[in-house]
Amino acid sequence: MSKQTILVTGGAGYIGSHAVKALQKVGYKVVILDSLVYGHQDIAETLDAELIIGDTNDRALLDRLFSDRQISAVMHFAAYAYVGESVTQPDKYYRNNVVGTLSLLEAMVAANVKAFVFSSTCASYGVPQQIPITEDHPQAPINPYGATKLMVERILQDFDIAYGLKSVIFRYFNAAGADPDGAIGEDHNPETHLIPLILQTALGKREAITVYGSDYPTADGTCIRDYIHVTDLSDAHVLGLEYLLNGNKSEIFNLGNGNGFSVKQVIDAAKNLTGKPINVVMGDRRAGDPPALVGSSEKARTILNWQPKYADLNLILQHAWKWHQKRHA
Ligand SMILES: NC(=O)c1ccc[n+]([C@@H]2O[C@H](COP(=O)([O-])OP(=O)(O)OC[C@H]3O[C@@H](n4cnc5c(N)ncnc54)[C@H](O)[C@@H]3O)[C@@H](O)[C@H]2O)c1
Repeated sequence: MSKQTILVTGGAGYIGSHAVKALQKVGYKVVILDSLVYGHQDIAETLDAELIIGDTNDRALLDRLFSDRQISAVMHFAAYAYVGESVTQPDKYYRNNVVGTLSLLEAMVAANVKAFVFSSTCASYGVPQQIPITEDHPQAPINPYGATKLMVERILQDFDIAYGLKSVIFRYFNAAGADPDGAIGEDHNPETHLIPLILQTALGKREAITVYGSDYPTADGTCIRDYIHVTDLSDAHVLGLEYLLNGNKSEIFNLGNGNGFSVKQVIDAAKNLTGKPINVVMGDRRAGDPPALVGSSEKARTILNWQPKYADLNLILQHAWKWHQKRHA
């Protein structure tokens, strides 16, 4: 079993903390770097990992971090990810997501660390021309958040050519669910993701859930999205890391479950599971929300031999419900 050390940026956040757990499960040692701007110290402390509280923009800190430890690879989750805020404060997003990542990559090159797993997003595709979206779909992001991720993808191509820094880029669809044992889960503040908003409404923490648009050209008129269980997502990251550590070339993979569910289907499934009333308010469409976003993850299944275990909406909701009941008790 490997005892290599992996640096996980953003490891006190939602997806990063689950990836830490997945890495530890197969024997890796983990160092977390997180500014705690959006992450949670209490969640990081449940993981048996060194936590360094700091920012990717702090180059001196990064240089010390790499010189004091034998880091074999980096998994980079640290980013700001609020689409609406990225429109009103693009500078905040370009500085954190692009400049911060550039600083990290420069520190890696200086320390001769050459394997990088990156959290990109389906938002880099923009409005889809066809569904399911494959990795060769044109990328035309319609907000600064998506643009920051696309810029980093481009930087990674150039760093590969110039410095031999190899990367696996994962473009995720909607991460959802929680660790099946209930120890860690999703807690964004502010929360904008559908499943936590629905479950917080079921718990009485919110008055109602607003559905943005019910006149889309879908079967029930609400938007369709692809939900991927965070544990399956994390397992894919471990496979992506090992693919790089085995000396393979840089690659890009979508991660979704390939099945879309409408907002209404998710609300109905949550009502059935929780047995609680969930007040729904019908709102207007939001600018920039495509009717359907569903990804094909065939490439990850084929090349990485990724086999999602929890590709089932009810399981995703069950695990998220267990976590939310505990977190909001
Ligand atoms: N949640 C999703 O559905 C989704 C979908 C596509 C892509 N992503 C990407 O996945 C990654 C993780 O998302 P998440 O939902 O876990 O978000 P999150 O906010 O829970 O986690 C991000 C973590 O990074 C930390 N961070 C941010 N900027 C930092 C910096 N400069 N230096 C150090 N730490 C910093 C935050 O404190 C936070 O703990 C992000 O890069 C996001 O863009 C998420």
